[in-house]
Amino acid sequence: MNELQEIEEQRQYIKKVSKINENKNLKYTILTMGCKLNENDSEKICGMLEEMGYSRTEDINKANLAIYNTCCVRENAEERLFGKIGELKQIKKKNNLIIAIGGCMMQEPHILEKIKKSFNYVDIVFGTHTIHKLPEDIYKVIEKQKRVEDIIDIDGKVYEDLPIRRDSNIQGSVTIMYGCNNFCSYCIVPYVRGRERSRKPSDIIKEVKELANKGYKEIILLGQNVNSYLRSEMEAIAKGTLKDEAGDYKEIDSFAKLLRAINKIEGIERIRFISPHPKDFTMDVIEAIRDCEKVCKFIHLPLQSGSTKMLKIMNRKYTKEQYLDLVEKMKKEIPNVKFSTDIIVGFAGETEEDFEDTLDVVRKVGFEQVYMFIYSRRKGTPGDEMENQIPEEIKHKRFDRLKKLVEDQIAIDNEKYVGTIQKVLVEGLSKNNENMLTRKNRNK
Ligand code: 5AD
Ligand code: SF4
Repeated sequence: MNELQEIEEQRQYIKKVSKINENKNLKYTILTMGCKLNENDSEKICGMLEEMGYSRTEDINKANLAIYNTCCVRENAEERLFGKIGELKQIKKKNNLIIAIGGCMMQEPHILEKIKKSFNYVDIVFGTHTIHKLPEDIYKVIEKQKRVEDIIDIDGKVYEDLPIRRDSNIQGSVTIMYGCNNFCSYCIVPYVRGRERSRKPSDIIKEVKELANKGYKEIILLGQNVNSYLRSEMEAIAKGTLKDEAGDYKEIDSFAKLLRAINKIEGIERIRFISPHPKDFTMDVIEAIRDCEKVCKFIHLPLQSGSTKMLKIMNRKYTKEQYLDLVEKMKKEIPNVKFSTDIIVGFAGETEEDFEDTLDVVRKVGFEQVYMFIYSRRKGTPGDEMENQIPEEIKHKRFDRLKKLVEDQIAIDNEKYVGTIQKVLVEGLSKNNENMLTRKNRNK
């Protein structure tokens, strides 16, 4: 069966389940952990559920189906998930709740074991490559009253045209590629999301055009490594293992060209993308950002560490100097460009001197926003096997020092905006104060 036939099969299951569910006013609740890619997966899960006749509720006590879409990038999510599943036991007894747990964490064998052993009342476990099969899984649970485990350990395929129920009607997330080939030594993602594979340019353009027609103003292009979009496909074409008979990649064969094509779509006002990898930030991408008026001049450029020694241990494939040069090059090419970043504190072997290098890069670049993480050991990654792990106490102290530096820098930077008038896209009510609106301007 090819991908189209597989999706058609699932559409049949959607019909079957919606027939069973007819006039029952059934409800689902969903909890999404982790990154924007997971949120976009959840939007597809919600799309399928709503076509199956479920409507959304935030109240678990009113739900007939509970879905948890999990993340495993950091450890603290595990305890949280187990706590949440524990809470469902009583609710399941009361109203025969169907429980489905899916996403990245389910691709980890030790977590799957734990769920099977300790939480045998979970009805469905599904992985990152089988989200589209949820209709079939739900059907089996309803009809056959049996537990379903639907996890495969392959590199996954690319499925198009799943129903989708989006969280926002202003900002639309569009996943452009799946998986990761980089194997940074601290990171679990390549093990749970498989190798890189990109969607066809025409499918992405079609989705963005549909969003524009519906009035969406901002597009966020998503992938673990967006600036290697189509790289695997181009390599396969060069090797002769993939033939572009239909001419899918004739006009658009790179991330830079994709940005230029999306920039032309009428109605869309802003284009963002997360996350690029510094090692793949080629000149054509920099030029595309510069030339495309809709592409926000606010780049998320994950640093992870400012120490060349640590970057090597982390398998990041760039040095401190190369990162700083890239920032300088972008500042030169793209007027007013601003940066945000990800930093991991306390990876194995990080000395005081290495950490100072990180602070040094933070001072030099002047990030607008820094997502800071304390290193969390992930089973199965090279980082977990390293001997020179940093004590928790030192990690936390370094984290606090980084946080203080970043906050001080941002406070100074924000003063520049006081009294200025900026064009902003209002995103909704502030999370902290319901009398305030939250916004992002074009740079931010
Ligand atoms: N521990 C802490 N942070 C991590 N990240 C990825 N893996 C880990 C880990 N094991 C961070 C990286 C990445 C972001 C999404 O999460 O900074 O860019
Ligand atoms: Fe993880 Fe590195 Fe891939 Fe990002 S690029 S998902 S940090 S392995």
